[in-house]
Amino acid sequence: MDTSATQQLFKQRFHATPAHFAFAPGRIEFIGNHTDYNGGLVMGAAVTEGITVAIAPREDGMIHLVSELGGLVKIPLGNYEPLEGEASWTNYPIGVTKIMSESGMSTPTGYNLAVTSTLPVGAGMSSSAAIELATAKALAALYGFETDTAGYARIGRRAENEFVGMPCGILDQGVSAFGRADHLVKIDCATERFATEPMPGEAHFWIFNSNKKHALVDSAYADRHRECHEALAQLRSDYPEARTLSEISQSQLDASHDRLDEVLYRRAAHIIGENDRVRAVQSALLNGDLQAVGAALSASHESSRHNFENSIPELDTLFELLKLQPTVYGARLTGGGFGGAVMALTNPGFGQAQADVIAAAYEAKHGIQPSIFHTRAGEGARLLNKAET
Ligand code: GLA
Repeated sequence: MDTSATQQLFKQRFHATPAHFAFAPGRIEFIGNHTDYNGGLVMGAAVTEGITVAIAPREDGMIHLVSELGGLVKIPLGNYEPLEGEASWTNYPIGVTKIMSESGMSTPTGYNLAVTSTLPVGAGMSSSAAIELATAKALAALYGFETDTAGYARIGRRAENEFVGMPCGILDQGVSAFGRADHLVKIDCATERFATEPMPGEAHFWIFNSNKKHALVDSAYADRHRECHEALAQLRSDYPEARTLSEISQSQLDASHDRLDEVLYRRAAHIIGENDRVRAVQSALLNGDLQAVGAALSASHESSRHNFENSIPELDTLFELLKLQPTVYGARLTGGGFGGAVMALTNPGFGQAQADVIAAAYEAKHGIQPSIFHTRAGEGARLLNKAET
């Protein structure tokens, strides 16, 4: 792990040597879109890129935070309020500090924290979960806090839900925590059970960032969150035992079609269909059938487009262009949607030349250059030992 950029930033801003380094990866959402906060199934992959933090104690009761992108932010220990504007990135590490303190971590001193990233900006690969998990690992080492891997994922999610104010599920933090090289992370969000499954060696991930962002991504996400809960509330008149949308089957949904507003029907159909597609992908992976995996990925995108309406024309263009390539098994938007990136699962025959053709066609249509990124599944969040730095 190359920590030289983080070391340099830390030394330059704090004129001292870090006590600990921690790294946490970004993630690809592989299949299972918006299922996490609906008690469903989801599969993701940690990527090899992510966030590295360096930490050391300071004696004046202050927290000082610095990242490559922003200036120094100073916060008194114990005085935690979300910030807006340029300093809002500090809500992730401070949210984690607050949640860990509430969970029994004692903070006898303040700390200095420097943050660097190798994740592409704005590609929807969850740099927020990565900074949460890396900070949690670093704080645990600094203050002697202990929890298990699921505990770290839950701390990150709580920071995001309770401090940042984003009603996300456990996908991003769970994948960043449990990532494993050349494996997918599968999460049953109802029970919060985490497992890893091998990714066939001949499958490659390519990310095409549309470089287009819906102006109101956060409120659009919150709208979908609300609609899913409204759909459940309406369906519960027929199925009072259902605690989440994921406990309702497609045939039950169809039997209750008339009870639901049309939009809410489509939202529920997306969630229920995604759970079915996660199961289909899982058995296709067991059979080594990457064509069937790809078909489920592409069906997921179609459902996003028509049922959940969290795609945008730019993502649809990338999806259509990718689908035409014989070396692409399947493609879909990855993450919350309303902008961000399309992920393609390809065989090794897909290379930079094919990617460039797609980028050119996309640019000709939308006047925006996409960013392209070829990656593989990497390890989860961890404290870096001396030898690794
Ligand atoms: C974002 C959220 C996740 C998940 C996905 C959609 O990435 O942070 O919790 O809901 O969107 O599947």
